[in-house]
Order: sequence, then structure tokens, then C-alpha cells
Amino acid sequence: MIKIKANATQVEISDLLWGSFVEQMGRAIYGGIYDEGHPTADENGYRQDVISAVRALNLPLIRYPGGNFVSGFDWKDSVGENRPVRMNLAWQQLEPNTIGLHEFYDWCEKVGSEVMMAINLGTGTIKDALELVEYCNFGGHSTIADERRKNGKDDPFGFKYWCLGNEMDGIWQICNLPAEEYARKAREVSKLIKIIDPEIKTTLVGSSGPYIPTYPAWEKTVLEEAYDFVDYISLHLYYSVTPDGKDESFLAQYKDLERYIETVRDIVKETKERKKSNHDVYLALDEWNIWKTSNDSSDTKWLVSDVRLENVYDFRDTLLFADMVVTMTNYSDCLKIGCLAQLVNVIAPIMTENGGRMFLQPTYYPFEFACNHLKGNLLSCEYDSPVITAGEEKYQSLHVTACENRSEYAMLLVNNNLTEEFDISLEVPETARKVKICKFMKAALADVNSFDEPEKVIPKELACQKEEGAVTLRIPAASIVMLTLEKGDK
Ligand code: AHR
Repeated sequence: MIKIKANATQVEISDLLWGSFVEQMGRAIYGGIYDEGHPTADENGYRQDVISAVRALNLPLIRYPGGNFVSGFDWKDSVGENRPVRMNLAWQQLEPNTIGLHEFYDWCEKVGSEVMMAINLGTGTIKDALELVEYCNFGGHSTIADERRKNGKDDPFGFKYWCLGNEMDGIWQICNLPAEEYARKAREVSKLIKIIDPEIKTTLVGSSGPYIPTYPAWEKTVLEEAYDFVDYISLHLYYSVTPDGKDESFLAQYKDLERYIETVRDIVKETKERKKSNHDVYLALDEWNIWKTSNDSSDTKWLVSDVRLENVYDFRDTLLFADMVVTMTNYSDCLKIGCLAQLVNVIAPIMTENGGRMFLQPTYYPFEFACNHLKGNLLSCEYDSPVITAGEEKYQSLHVTACENRSEYAMLLVNNNLTEEFDISLEVPETARKVKICKFMKAALADVNSFDEPEKVIPKELACQKEEGAVTLRIPAASIVMLTLEKGDK
């Protein structure tokens, strides 16, 4: 029997931790969220089956419009009448600008989320950035703000969260920049847009991942230059296949996320101390997921809505995905924004056919659990389970996070042990009442959902006992358990 003891902490899980990301690329927008001819399309052409699946996630934020796309995006193309069709250089597609700023905002209203707007710091100038923010957030009567009114939006959009570019360290980025140049440009934009709207919070671009050669020197340079002017620094992490092809090594990758967060957290802390600053900068993991294949139809270029990055996630991916969710929650002291990349069709939990069916990938379910239950105050979990060795890496079989909020206790458990099941006893506080959710996900590692078999890998009920002070359950080998308990008075 493995005992898990959950202790109270002062750490609050950010309300912005379970956000997502929609880029103007692939079939994310055209054929994904927007499909005029679809049987469920509403009066504006938005698919209502997709709206329901997104709304169920209660996403606080959706990052938009990129990603790599944003570094070549002229926002003026995407508002008003007579919109131009442009080359999307990042993904070699055509962008008709049918869905632009106003339309995406309207869609976000329908799904109940805020837009986290990204600024073009590639081809875009500082002037373009300032005009975009003035257009979106200024409540007075400047020519640009009145243009917004003319285009149908009287009140400002009031976007609070802004990304200062995207992956500017990457050579693939349109107008990639050295750290010093980027930092100076980003600092000025951040400084000036906060004059336009003092409520704005900005995210400085960190490295596009811990595997890029300029990491972590990039973080040190950009923070040195811009620390007092920004509120978050971004982290991006996608897990791929591992060179040795072993399942244990694949799952062990979440340890990299822990190291990545700790490294950036420490650089932020050192910078703050060196600058003797009173200001806090937090971490924004504003792109994270598993991305194994780039199955682009590479012979189809310069079309509006062709396939890009349509990864199909199997159950093994789902275990690692759940490990990422656990890790993110457990680092809630410094990680305050998260955006799952992406949301529909492009490396996404929600998949659609043009004009046809939709299915939810297995990764949708642990994400949905996080979005709706991993909130409130973090509980730190003490437990001891058999250690798994994968090359140099060692990690516990069980990987657990827990929290408490006003109405419930919630816990997400991953058993990364591919062969051993465990009996578990969870010590629960006096105020824990009846078990509300006790579900598990378990499938063959290669199992996937599809349009023809959409419910092959979904959560199922798990037997568990609630006794005085403890909940007991058996967690199968290679599985995910989601548990909530109602909270009452002492
Ligand atoms: O999410 C897909 C791409 O991954 C984004 O456009 C980019 O920022 C990252 O490299």
C-alpha cells in the first residue's frame, strides 16, 4: 500500500494556468473553428460542436494569432472591409483574413475565454504595435480607436495579456533577432503599450525551448534589459519521440520540464536580486504539448486550409501529457500562465473533418480535468513509490498533484509504471466529504481515438473507498486517475 499525504501550502494555482492557443495556420481556423457549410455552423459560420467542446474547458485565455504566423502578420489586414489575401510565410499557406481580430474576439466570447494577443515583433515595427494596442484598448476618440468603432466595436476590446513577439530566438522565425536587439525592441513596446493602457500585462519572449543552443543565455540577456518593464517570460516545450525509442525514456521527458522551469525561475530570481527590483516576473509556459510528427501535406502549398501538424495522440502520449499537467500544477509558485498548443486540428485535443465529424483526442480528458478542477490552493504531496530508471533519468512510478478550493479537493495521479499496479491510500482532511469524481484512463499504449472510433480512449469509473480520514483505490499500471472530493465544514 502506498500512502499519499497531502499538506497545505500557501501557493495559489493561477487562474491563467489552463489556457490554450489558436494560430492562423493549418486547419485551426478554416475548417476547425470556422466552417460556414458545416451542419452545426451558427449564423457567423462557427462550428457549434467545436464551441461546445471548447466551452467545456472554461479556458481563461486563448493566445492568438500565433505562433510563427504572428511574425509576418499585419493586423490591419484583418479588420474592416476589403481584406487582402496574404502569403502566410511561416506555414506556406494563404491567409484570406476572413477571420480576423473582431471575429476571433467574437468567437472567444462564445467560448467564454479572453484573447491573449501576440504582437508582431518580426516584420512589425514599434509603431505597428502601438497602433494595434491603441485600436484594441483605447477608450477615447483617436482616429485609430474610432476606426475600431466604425468596424463594429464601440467599447475597447480591453485585452489585458500581450505577448511581445514569438520565438524570436529561432532561426525559423520571420525576422529572427539576436537577444540584445529583441530585448530592446520588446522593452520599448512594453513600456509604451502600458502607457496606452496601464492594465496591460506583457510576456517577454524566452527561449523557444531548452534544447536551443542560446538557452539559457537568451533568458539572462533579455531579462537584464527588460526586467522591470514586463510581467512574464515565456517558455515553450514540445515533447517528441526519444532516440532510444523506449517507453520509459519517453515518459521520463517530463523531468526536463521540471529542470527547465527551475532554470528560468532561478534566472528571474537572480535578475531581480541583482537589479534590487521590487517588481515580480513570472513564468508563462505559453506553448506546451507533444509534437511528434509534422505530417504537413508538403506538396500542398499556398492553400487556405490544408493540413499542418495534425498529430494523432495515442495513450502513451496521454500519459506524458498528464505528467506535464502534474508538473505544471506543482510549479504553481512561479508558473502563472499556461497555453496548451494548440486547440483545434493543429497539435490539438479537438479534431474535425471539413464539413463533417469531430472527435476528442485522449489528451482532451486530463486537460479538461485540469481546467475544471486543478484550481485554488496547491497541496504538496508526500509519497514514496518504486523508482523507474530510464538511461540517466530516475523518476518515481507515481506522479501526483493535488489542490483544494472552496468547494472541493482534487487530485491527478499518473502511474508511469508500465507493469505494476499499486494500492493507494490517500490521507484526506477532516473537511473532505463524499467522492464526486473517481475516474481512470487506461488503454494499450498505442490506442488512439478517431472519427470512426471516437471513444476508444476515454475516462471510466474507478472503484474507490472513502473511510475515516482516507480514500483507498487501486491504480492500474500505466494509467491516469482523476479524483475529486466534496468539501464541507469541520
Ligand atoms: O504551435 C506550432 C508552432 O510551434 C508555433 O507557431 C511556434 O511558436 C512553435 O514553434
